[in-house]
Amino acid sequence: MINIGIVGYGYWGPNLVRNFAETPGAKVAAVSDLDTAKLALVQRRFPGVKTTTDFRELLNDSGVDAIAIATPVHTHFELALAALQAGKHVWLEKPMTETSAQARQLIDEAQKRNLVLLVDHTFIYTGSVIKMKELIDSGELGKVLYYDSIRVNLGLFQRDVSVISDLAVHDFSILDYLLGEHPVAVSANGTNHFPGTPENLAYVTLFYDSGTIAHTSVSWLAPVKVRQIHLGGTKKMITYDDLEPSEKIKVYDKGVSFTDDPAKIQEMRVGYRTGDMWAPKLAGTEALAVEGAHFVDCIVNSKMPKTDGQLGLRVVETIEACHHSMRRKVRRNGETVNIESRGK
Ligand SMILES: NC(=O)c1ccc[n+]([C@@H]2O[C@H](COP(=O)([O-])OP(=O)(O)OC[C@H]3O[C@@H](n4cnc5c(N)ncnc54)[C@H](O)[C@@H]3O)[C@@H](O)[C@H]2O)c1
Repeated sequence: MINIGIVGYGYWGPNLVRNFAETPGAKVAAVSDLDTAKLALVQRRFPGVKTTTDFRELLNDSGVDAIAIATPVHTHFELALAALQAGKHVWLEKPMTETSAQARQLIDEAQKRNLVLLVDHTFIYTGSVIKMKELIDSGELGKVLYYDSIRVNLGLFQRDVSVISDLAVHDFSILDYLLGEHPVAVSANGTNHFPGTPENLAYVTLFYDSGTIAHTSVSWLAPVKVRQIHLGGTKKMITYDDLEPSEKIKVYDKGVSFTDDPAKIQEMRVGYRTGDMWAPKLAGTEALAVEGAHFVDCIVNSKMPKTDGQLGLRVVETIEACHHSMRRKVRRNGETVNIESRGK
């Protein structure tokens, strides 16, 4: 039985507690939050679970095997480092850290101590993203030409991170998983409409060596909630609408072909193919339940998580490059920034 301590019981933490309470092989040992009103909620829902305002109590408890951290991003590095140094396996919320240097330090610390470090990029464990990966890997989609995403709503304005760190981070992890490729450069435009707050709207373009191009529009200032991805391949195209209750993924047998036949040069050289559309069946299990079981399996069987520190680091590097592009004052906002290190 893996005993888990959860730190942070705000918006996301309750989802972790509920899932770990139901994960086979796991037990919620304790929950820590600075706010006693939140701890009172834990006690009402999970009467046997120990609660504390002092995170260090979890570190000093030899009965706690792993710590899940769901606190604001600016606290991730300090809390995760302390947990690893206390010999605990770590589940860390996205984005892993504020800087890539911090992410590297956490990876080293976990490696040195043979501890599991999982970064919660939840989308990688959804039936929809797993299905998209299958369609790409089987060759059914052909070569991926583009990825286009829109992720907007009248969102919760964050105080410590930009909308890129909050929302585009999902696209960066999905792209990393689907393409198995790190972007070589990014260009980002964005703005904060309210002085003194992080950027609440951004348009990000990612460039890949293979020629694939990706774009995401993210905003906390939209009148309606939209979570849509279009993925275009040379053979087929996919739409993914995360707000659809069923049929989230649709595969379209649509595309174009070009001819260089000199006999047809005077004619339209583009051929359009419009075939069937189908909605594949998706695994219905909640992503966090799949991810929780995977975390336990990694600890028990010394496996590397699917969303390990290296994936977390590559995502943080992409965020850093976007901020660099978006925040350039001397030259133009949106200037293309190369990503040199590519996660190593
Ligand atoms: N994986 C996902 O899809 C997903 C979704 C939402 C949020 N998140 C991530 O979860 C994390 C938390 O986000 P949130 O929206 O729940 O934030 P939140 O502000 O609602 O909650 C954070 C909680 O952490 C507590 N806290 C802060 N410092 C603490 C400390 N030192 N010890 C104990 N408790 C402490 C706060 O009191 C608060 O209750 C962020 O990293 C966010 O990016 C992930």
